[in-house]
This record gives sequence, structure tokens and C-alpha cells, in this order.
Amino acid sequence: MGSVTHTSDSKLVLGPLVLGIESSCDETAVALVRGDGTIVAQAIASQEAEHAPYGGVVPEIAARAHAERLAPMLEKVMGEAGVALSEVDAIAATAGPGLIGGVMVGLVSAKALAMAADKPLLAVNHLEGHALSPRLADRKLAFPYLLLLVSGGHCQILAVEGVGQYRRLATTIDDALGEAFDKTAKLLGLGYPGGPAVERLALQGDPKAVPLPRPLKGSPEPHFSFAGLKSAVLRAVESGAHADADIAASFQQAAVECLIDRLERALDTAGPFPALVVAGGVAANKTVRAALETLAAKHAMRFTAPPLALCTDNAAMIAWAGCERLAAEGPDFAGDPLEFLARPRWPLDPAAEAVRGAGYKA
Ligand code: KG4
Ligand code: ZN
Repeated sequence: MGSVTHTSDSKLVLGPLVLGIESSCDETAVALVRGDGTIVAQAIASQEAEHAPYGGVVPEIAARAHAERLAPMLEKVMGEAGVALSEVDAIAATAGPGLIGGVMVGLVSAKALAMAADKPLLAVNHLEGHALSPRLADRKLAFPYLLLLVSGGHCQILAVEGVGQYRRLATTIDDALGEAFDKTAKLLGLGYPGGPAVERLALQGDPKAVPLPRPLKGSPEPHFSFAGLKSAVLRAVESGAHADADIAASFQQAAVECLIDRLERALDTAGPFPALVVAGGVAANKTVRAALETLAAKHAMRFTAPPLALCTDNAAMIAWAGCERLAAEGPDFAGDPLEFLARPRWPLDPAAEAVRGAGYKA
């Protein structure tokens, strides 16, 4: 990563340079991204070790860890890129949704930098970061596209029609799929984080060995439900009748079948779309990716999945969402107000109705 020089000419070609900060869950991340999609420098620190003893993310521990790590990481990224704060065009930070303590740490830091350097602040919706990350990975991906957003906190199907234009077609009525992966991992004693561990164990198992339900499969609206699948996994574990690897493989298979069935339904009701895109942490799962690729081919859709490092939480996607917003809003855009408050909840499509099943918690 060499030093970056820019003249007003290069800025026209390369677009703005945006500093991004992510701190909404258990990754502290900082990145510098250009409007042409170049990730100039980035750093990411996972808090896996801090949360592992508890089997999940502890909000207070997360907030403290973000507060301790963010300043040195900012210095490291700027130093590696050889960029001064005065050369950055805007400062973007996740402003929600997420664990509020962590979000506040990142957002307050971004506000301080924006104020000190007199740069625009961009308060980015974390979900918008995930939703636009495929365009950072695939610069030819045009709007509109059908997006499956599958992470630890969310499971949604969205029609992405432009920057800031998201139509939610489906959501989960109870648990997110990442959460179901994490719970399955916990039940199988695989520890935290669960998704990659379940995926690894599933490689050694038979996906047809354990009969598990496919909740909401075939239902007219394309919503998701994973609470019943999770309970069935619990019963399968408690029965003692199955090998752990078979449970992991059968769970993963049931989950993938639900995703494909619900996407087929969304295509029936809102399609066609020129492209199918997947984002969020569960998009790192290779079985999920392969099934989506097959679905896209069947419907003659382009398929884009960001590289694994851009699927799980990262700051490049936040800086990139900032680049996209700057481009969409035009030269007179002065950024978001410095009074912008961190939001624990922040739906991408505020017009979408709340859909809540019996197991809805958050
Ligand atoms: O997007 P993300 O990093 O954070 C949220 O915004 O939630 O997603 C994290 C989730 C976790 O539930 C994790 O278990 C899941 O993504 N995940 C996976 C895999 N890698 C991460 N799930 C299944 N297979 C994977 N390989
Ligand atoms: Zn995320």
C-alpha cells in the first residue's frame, strides 16, 4: 500500500476518498475507500476471543473493546495509506442498527474527526453497507437487483432499486439465519462464532440423515422463519440418535432449502430481476452460495456475491456506502448533521410493515 497522491484531475477519475468506521457488533473496523472502488487501506479486529467464553456477543464488553481499539486502528490505516485527514473527502460511520454502545463509539469518533477536519459526516445504515457491498466487489453490477441479506441479526429479501431506494419484500418472523447457525453451533458444542464451525462440521455429515422441518416453505408470502428449525435441532441433539456432523449437515440443508424456496416466491411475486445478489455474514457459506448460483442460473440472472471478507462485518462496505451516497446526492451535499443520533433500530425500508411471529424477540 503506497502513498496516495491526488490532483483535482485524479479525483475526477477516482472519485472521492472516504474514511469508514464500523463498530455495530463484534468487529472493530476502519477502511479508506475510493469512489472508483479501490480499497486503499483497511484494518479489522475481531472480538472473538473476548466473547467466546460467553457463547455470544456481550454488549458492554463489545463497547469497551471498540473504544480501546478504534483510535490506534484509525492511526494505522491512515499511516499505511500515507493519507492525512485533510485529504479525505468525507467520514462515514455505522450509525445503526446494532448494539448501541458500540455504534456510539464509532459514530462519536467519526463526528470528532469530521468536526476537527471540517469534513462531511456520513451516518451510514449498517444494512445499507451490506446491501451496496456487492457493487464494491462487482463494479459492473447495476440497479435494480434482488438482494438476499442474511446476517446474524437480519434475514431479508430486498429489491435494491438505487442508493437509498430499498423495497423490502420479505423478512424473518422470528430468528435471523445467522442466529440459527450460531444456536446450532452452541447446541453442538462448537462454540462461537457458530456459522463457520457448523459449515466445517457439515462437510463430514449427511444432509439427508436427520429429518428437519422447512418452516414456511410453500407459504404465499416470501417471509422466513427459523425458530421451529432451531427447536427441531435441539430435539435432534437431545435425542442422542444422530451424529453431530449429520445434524450440522441436515440443518444447513434445511436452511438452504428455505432460502431458495422463499427467493423463488419473491421472484414470482416481484420479479423478474436482472441480478441476484447475496450479502451479510451467512453469505460466506459455500453451500448457500452454490445454491444461490444455481437459482440465478435457472432464472437467467447475473449472480454476485462479495468476497468472504466483504460479506462479514467490515468498514470497507461502510466507506463504500459513503462513496455511493456522495455520488447519488451530488456536489451540494454537505453530509449528515453532527447531531445525528445512533439508532439501535433502523429499517432499510421504513414503509415495510412489521412482520412478527410468535417467537419474535428483538
Ligand atoms: O454480517 P455479520 O458479520 O454480522 C451481522 O451484522 O450480523 O454476520 C454474522 C453472522 C453470524 O451469525 C455468523 O455465524 C454468520 O454470519 N456466518 C456464517 C458463516 N460465516 C458467518 N453462517 C454460516 N456459514 C458461514 N460460513
Ligand atoms: Zn452485518
